[in-house]
Amino acid sequence: MMKLAPSILSADFSKLGEEVKLIEKYGADYVHIDVMDGHFVPNITIGPLVVKSLRKLSNLVFDVHLMIEDPDKYIEQFAKAGSDIITVHAEACIHLNRTINLIKSFGKKAGVAINPATHLNVLDYVLDDIDMILIMSVNPGFGGQKFIDSSIKKINEIKKKIDAERLSIDIEVDGGINLNNVDDVIKAGANVIVAGSAIFESENIKDTIDRFKRFGEK
Ligand code: DX5
Ligand code: ZN
Repeated sequence: MMKLAPSILSADFSKLGEEVKLIEKYGADYVHIDVMDGHFVPNITIGPLVVKSLRKLSNLVFDVHLMIEDPDKYIEQFAKAGSDIITVHAEACIHLNRTINLIKSFGKKAGVAINPATHLNVLDYVLDDIDMILIMSVNPGFGGQKFIDSSIKKINEIKKKIDAERLSIDIEVDGGINLNNVDDVIKAGANVIVAGSAIFESENIKDTIDRFKRFGEK
């Protein structure tokens, strides 16, 4: 089953709580929370305090995407703030295996993200330890960018590998996904779909979520 994870990066930050409640009411599965530090990516967003505040308002799965350097420093705070899945970037972790274990030590699901130009083989020796892989289909930092087409091949390859090794790892894809390309992303093997601008900047959020979810039922 496909899970839909609207990214609140494109929501109205002056009423973030209401936006999260809205997507929950309209059937989103996860809320995707983009954390940026101005170092790993050229943008600054939100920290654990915001996650903690939103946690009081919502029962959605909190899918926290850390686009930060040295994530080990902040994992405890994000775990205690109420994250359910914590995803770190392979490019930001010198000791990736240690970081994954740290996330799991707080009872959280561990995800590893890779940038568009990063090879899948950085994941080879952590596949047995992770719950989710996040394939970035844009260079992280901003919402509303164009989907990078070579991501389809990458999703396909990792899906084949996961199936061949009989692992149960979710494949999340993030960046530039809309109602015109989501079908290709799902067919390539993704089962967790992030969409920011396509949902929050649409005329009718409820209708857009419905349409996204229908692709997942096919
Ligand atoms: C990009 C973020 C994404 C972003 C997606 O760095 O990780 O989650 O919000 O936004 P869209 O769907 O607009 O590309
Ligand atoms: Zn993201």
